[in-house]
Amino acid sequence: MSPIIELRDIDKKFGAVHALKKVSLSINKGETIALVGENGAGKSTLMKILTGAYTKDSGTILIDGKEAFFNDTISAKKFGIAQVYQQAELWPELSVAENIFLGEQDMSRHGLVNWKYIFQKAAKLLEKYNIPIKETAKVKDLSVASQQLVAIAKVLIRNPKVVIFDEPTAVLSDKEVNILFNIIRMLKKEKTTIIYISHRLEEVFELSDRIAVMRDGAMVTVLENQNLAKSDLIAHMLGRHINALYPEKNTVESDEVVLELRNVSTDKVKDISFTVKKGEILGIVGLVNSGRTETARAIYGIDRIKQGEMLLFGKPVNFKSPTDAVKHGLFLAPEDRKKEALVQIRPIRENITLSNLKLISRFGLCNMQKEKALVGKMMQDLRIKADSMESNVNTLSGGNQQKVVIAKAITAQPKILIFDEPTQGIDVGAKSEINSLVQRLGREGMSIILISSEIEEVQGMCNRIVVMRNGTVAGIVESNIDDSKHILDLMYRSANDAKLQQAN
Ligand SMILES: Nc1ncnc2c1ncn2[C@@H]1O[C@H](COP(=O)(O)OP(=O)(O)OP(=O)(O)O)[C@@H](O)[C@H]1O
Ligand SMILES: [Mg+2]
Repeated sequence: MSPIIELRDIDKKFGAVHALKKVSLSINKGETIALVGENGAGKSTLMKILTGAYTKDSGTILIDGKEAFFNDTISAKKFGIAQVYQQAELWPELSVAENIFLGEQDMSRHGLVNWKYIFQKAAKLLEKYNIPIKETAKVKDLSVASQQLVAIAKVLIRNPKVVIFDEPTAVLSDKEVNILFNIIRMLKKEKTTIIYISHRLEEVFELSDRIAVMRDGAMVTVLENQNLAKSDLIAHMLGRHINALYPEKNTVESDEVVLELRNVSTDKVKDISFTVKKGEILGIVGLVNSGRTETARAIYGIDRIKQGEMLLFGKPVNFKSPTDAVKHGLFLAPEDRKKEALVQIRPIRENITLSNLKLISRFGLCNMQKEKALVGKMMQDLRIKADSMESNVNTLSGGNQQKVVIAKAITAQPKILIFDEPTQGIDVGAKSEINSLVQRLGREGMSIILISSEIEEVQGMCNRIVVMRNGTVAGIVESNIDDSKHILDLMYRSANDAKLQQAN
């Protein structure tokens, strides 16, 4: 097999950060190569250099054996190299078809946009790859997961030779992951070369022919994906062995109920009832769109509670805003890190302590030393990789930004912490440490609501799990390792439900 892409000694610095250290990688035509490594290892940067989004400091890129000079994304596109981005940039007000075609040259003929052609072609593409989205739907009406599928369709319309997926499944649930994997299998059959970045090693094992491992800006090794043990791959990635991904669960829990929802309904969820105890890590699991995030929004005063009631320490409350909820001791670390959680062009330090200025100030004055000590400890505990605590958040790798979201939430020292998909995009090493930290917070008396689409995660972390489906509670299960089938059953029974409702 001849290499379609050869990267030779690619080097890149951002100020003092040496992001890529003479990285070499040869990619064969038609193969699927996975790229793995800790947060901040340099995976996204390497791909951005390949697509021309960043320029390299030194090194050579060969495409089909010839040196390529990419100073912008246009030249890489011409070679047929396309990337699906971690955070899709779409136009919310436009239709799916328009988004797919936006920026494409054959969108217009003789200077006129040919709408009929665009909608027909988009419909065909969605059908070909079994993407269950209407071409006429407005992007803003789609779930985050569906939007991600639109971003993928936008790449496929160009018939690329090489497709780069940078953590495509971070915002997807099982259903969409299946759709994506089908697309990838079709691309493989069409002999498209695929570069696949993910922290979910099961996916890497399932899809790839070879696995390239990066650590700390360097290419460590490239492994054949055959007879490869997961623990060995992890050791290559981290340069060390990790303790168990899920630490021992807390067994002693108080019986004190801190939060209770009684038949709570909003515009988006109906009839939600459950309790949260002091020091408990309560799991909420469900498919994307099952109402998990919407339940968090109801609790946190973002969406209005229209029926039912919520009791905090036994007293009825109805928060008018998140600020109100925070005053009462709640804190939400939201799902969509880029849009809601962080101030991108401010330092890590400020982003973390913004949630609890009281902690670092006295008589209205900020104690810089105290602030630095606190932020330093957080960065160490969570392994936040950055030049310094003064680095702006937008210069961090995706996973490290997510760690800042977690650090900010913990620093708020709430009584009740709502975590919506907290370890999304975080590497296995840091995940195991964050999980230990969360268990410790529970032991110290903090109540935690852990929202996840991964059954394994809630089972590993929680003693009780609320399973959601179709905007309501499908069941509450006591967690033990054998009941994943029961949880799956509760999560997926929706199709039957719909039939039942019709029959009534
Ligand atoms: N625009 C930038 N300015 C400054 N530093 C940057 C910039 N982009 C990346 N870096 C730094 O380069 C290093 C590599 O980042 P990169 O995004 O490539 O990591 P990654 O392997 O993709 O990590 P993750 O798994 O978290 O997505 C990090 O230390 C990051 O802080
Ligand atoms: Mg990345």
